[in-house]
Amino acid sequence: MQRKNLIAGLAVLAVLLAGCQAAAEPAAGEVEVFSWWTAGGEADGLAALIQVMDTENPDLLFVNSAVAGGAGTNARAVLATRLSAGNPPDSWQGHAGQELIGTYVSAGQIQPLNDLYEANGWLDVMPETLIPLISQGGDIYSVPVNIHRANVLWYNPEVLATYGVAVPTTIDEFFAAADAVQAADVTPLAMGEQWTSMHLFETVLLGTLGAESYNGLWEGTTSWAGPEVTQAIDNFGRMLELTNSDASTLSWDQAAQLVIDGNAAFTIMGDWAEGYFKAAGLSPMEGFGWAPAPGTGGVFQFLSDSFVLPVGAPNEEGATAFLTIAGSKAGQEAFNPIKGSICARTDCDASLFDEYLQSAMNDWASNTVVGSLTHGVVANDNWKSQIDTALGLYLADGDAAAFQAALAAACSDAGTCG
Ligand code: GAL
Repeated sequence: MQRKNLIAGLAVLAVLLAGCQAAAEPAAGEVEVFSWWTAGGEADGLAALIQVMDTENPDLLFVNSAVAGGAGTNARAVLATRLSAGNPPDSWQGHAGQELIGTYVSAGQIQPLNDLYEANGWLDVMPETLIPLISQGGDIYSVPVNIHRANVLWYNPEVLATYGVAVPTTIDEFFAAADAVQAADVTPLAMGEQWTSMHLFETVLLGTLGAESYNGLWEGTTSWAGPEVTQAIDNFGRMLELTNSDASTLSWDQAAQLVIDGNAAFTIMGDWAEGYFKAAGLSPMEGFGWAPAPGTGGVFQFLSDSFVLPVGAPNEEGATAFLTIAGSKAGQEAFNPIKGSICARTDCDASLFDEYLQSAMNDWASNTVVGSLTHGVVANDNWKSQIDTALGLYLADGDAAAFQAALAAACSDAGTCG
């Protein structure tokens, strides 16, 4: 009887030891990572990250399940369908802020990563300001791989030189510059499909209201029904009149291409456009120039791409290995200089980054930082989608008063405005 117990005990021990050994072994199998990085620059950045992962985890096969469509417009719909069918990928891209907390955390779809943070010492190297945006109840829910800037005015330096146009810093200067190039039959402002107009709108809100009132829009202290927003909508409407007529049919990178080709003078887009310009063979200040979006000097409107560990990830060990690379110095130094973003980590080697990205690093460190609407920081998905619906109507009918009323109603429905 005793002998039997001993044998049973040994058998249990053997199983336990085998389990420990398996955990210590490098991850293997397939790891399916879901993102929307398919355009020039962003896809190349992802490829560089994958390369670091392949080197560190030779037995792990990276399955790239990127779905095309900037800002995740298509990818997030596909992801939602997969999640409701109980078929999550091993990791997916989510924006730090309300997109993460208000959607995936609140639906219980992702796991806390506190242990991974501790094991990798990430709390010492990730920006303190970012951690609250990816945390709830003391748990940290994602691994930020970068910091992007939303409020950037990109321009074609040759076009500006040809027409003697100075880089505008205020909204009024922008309209004057636009008049000058339009007179020469060049499209002043390149724009793409609807999400890029939301992107434009958030920079115009910021440029018109300033950082404090802009923040107040998301905190319930600035009235969406007030005169500042009326003015912002007016500025936005005037800017829309300066865009290419085929905007709704173009992706963000096709709109950026108009600037490269000299068919448009400016575009307002996040700095993944920098990745696109470089993938197209251009260099900072030779092929493309940049400035803060009109009226937003001194303010950095940020967003951060981060990756999560789903509840029920098919290959949790593989996902953890991927997240470890995404949060690592080597991973971020390989990815960001190509992606057109700066590291989320604070210890990356600045000399690996070009002139534009070094300017972004300086601004991130010294500017007033506010969050992006289009890229998930300031409003949850429900609020954002109400804004999107109102915007779609405005783009179709140009009814500014109705747009403003719908924006005010969206804030009330979100429970932020009284
Ligand atoms: C943003 C994302 C960026 C970039 C961009 C265009 O939402 O944060 O990393 O991919 O969309 O696709």
